[in-house]
Amino acid sequence: MKRKPIIAGNWKMNPGTRDEARAIFLATRRAIETHENVTAIVCPPFVYVRELATLTKGRRRLFVGAQNCFFETHGAYTGEVSAGQLADVGASHVIIGHSERRAMGETDEIVNKKIKSALREGLVSIVCIGEKERDSDGHYLSLIRSSLEVSLSGVSGADLSKIIIAYEPVWAIGKSEREAMKPHDLHEMAIFIRKTLSKPYGTPLAFKMPILYGGSVGPSTVAEHLGAGVEGLLVGRASADVKSVAEVIEAAASAK
Ligand code: PGA
Repeated sequence: MKRKPIIAGNWKMNPGTRDEARAIFLATRRAIETHENVTAIVCPPFVYVRELATLTKGRRRLFVGAQNCFFETHGAYTGEVSAGQLADVGASHVIIGHSERRAMGETDEIVNKKIKSALREGLVSIVCIGEKERDSDGHYLSLIRSSLEVSLSGVSGADLSKIIIAYEPVWAIGKSEREAMKPHDLHEMAIFIRKTLSKPYGTPLAFKMPILYGGSVGPSTVAEHLGAGVEGLLVGRASADVKSVAEVIEAAASAK
């Protein structure tokens, strides 16, 4: 069966202008149109969501998501944006629990509330988990397990069609492509995540669940990461650049 990889782009707080945002988005769209087997989910800063979502019209493999949402529906929460507001301006996905937000105090309990608010609004959550560092005693595995359990607590098997897990080891984010996680280790982690999920949800659902890898993915490592038991990639820097996003999508399209 031909692969249908998902390439999710986390633009973080980039680019600086609407014109640049449009240019990167259109480069992504052109690449998707050229490569029929790839799906792209572009997650720009909030301010660009509405405009870019209008540029997805008529495309089945191109989506716009946000990088965060708040768990309440409305009210006195200065600076926050609700899942409902995101859905209203055309977002279909939302990244929840990115390590850069966890570094600002987001916990698995908060992630859980945000997932539930996204589910209520029909958004697909891209739920980020990942250890800060690896220890030889394997404590990082318990951390991943508990992160999954707490984040998905109360999420039903039927809701899983609206969940994508993004495994992003914090130590591999923002580095060079060479320092990204090794495919063998990623393969093991993907199996570990599926095993953990198969307890509450059963093996068939756990194995259907899309898992993305994120952390210093660039055009030269796309193929090896996609060959390591995951359905796609969550790409940071390389997704927010006209040239490299096209290269990443092209590499994903030809990955075996
Ligand atoms: P990076 O970021 O690809 O720039 O390492 C990935 C991420 O933080 O999602």
